[in-house]
Amino acid sequence: MPNNLSITTENGIRIIAINRPDKLNALNRATLTELDAAIDDAASSSEVYGIIITGAGEKAFVAGADISEFSGLGPEDGKQLSVFGQKIFKKIEQCTKPVIAAVNGFALGGGAELAMACHLRVASENAKFGQPEVKLGLIPGYGGTQRLTHLIGKTKAFELLMTADAINAQQALQYGLVNYVTPMAELIPKCKELLEKIHAHSPYAISAIIRSVDACFTEGVDGFKVEVEEFGKCFAGKDVAEGTKAFIEKRKPVFNNL
Ligand code: COA
Repeated sequence: MPNNLSITTENGIRIIAINRPDKLNALNRATLTELDAAIDDAASSSEVYGIIITGAGEKAFVAGADISEFSGLGPEDGKQLSVFGQKIFKKIEQCTKPVIAAVNGFALGGGAELAMACHLRVASENAKFGQPEVKLGLIPGYGGTQRLTHLIGKTKAFELLMTADAINAQQALQYGLVNYVTPMAELIPKCKELLEKIHAHSPYAISAIIRSVDACFTEGVDGFKVEVEEFGKCFAGKDVAEGTKAFIEKRKPVFNNL
């Protein structure tokens, strides 16, 4: 049983909550290690079709990497920490089941980076996003410089990264950083609604979407070629036959879902 996460599964949806509310769910090494294992478990579990990542309590999603673990680190330690965090966040991004961040408060530093590694983001009205690392003499190390730039563009990314200003949920929506903003009580229900909608479609096609979109952001990979391959591979399964037959028969398709 993890010490820093609370994990539940309801109707095929795995909810992973970072559970250190007294530290605003800051990501220490132990929590990152548990998160790594929790993603592996959710990705491989036949009982799970979608994943929600959130924070315990109503104040913070994740207020960043645990700053108390930074003291005494040297350049090699810093690099190792960055590689460690990036590997886990890449795993989330490449998970072939949909992953939604339910951002229930502060998403700062590593918290914003964690949310950005998820496929979709829903924010509560009190959510705040920011990359305040420069205040500490640092830069984001878990993919933030890259994902923020991809998600909101260079102009706004430079501003947030260099000023360390946080933005509220409505600004995040306006910047295209989040998909929806909801009242706190609606946050998890909205994430579940999105996952249920996705679940009505071919799970193979959803995983192929994730691989193809990810290729767009993977250096040295021709995303158009990946799309060709993934499009072709869809025809190897039964879902295309069912999906096209259902369309012609004017009924809902029945895919091989959970
Ligand atoms: N790392 C370690 N501990 C953290 C933390 C972090 N990133 N963020 C918050 N905490 C801890 C605080 O030290 C405090 O612990 P304590 O009660 O033992 O002193 C507790 O969480 C509550 O935080 P506090 O600062 O008292 O809450 P607040 O409401 O006054 O402020 C924030 C909230 C988010 C503005 C403030 O906590 C903050 O700026 N956190 C750091 C954000 C950051 O720089 N993240 C990037 C890290 S690379």
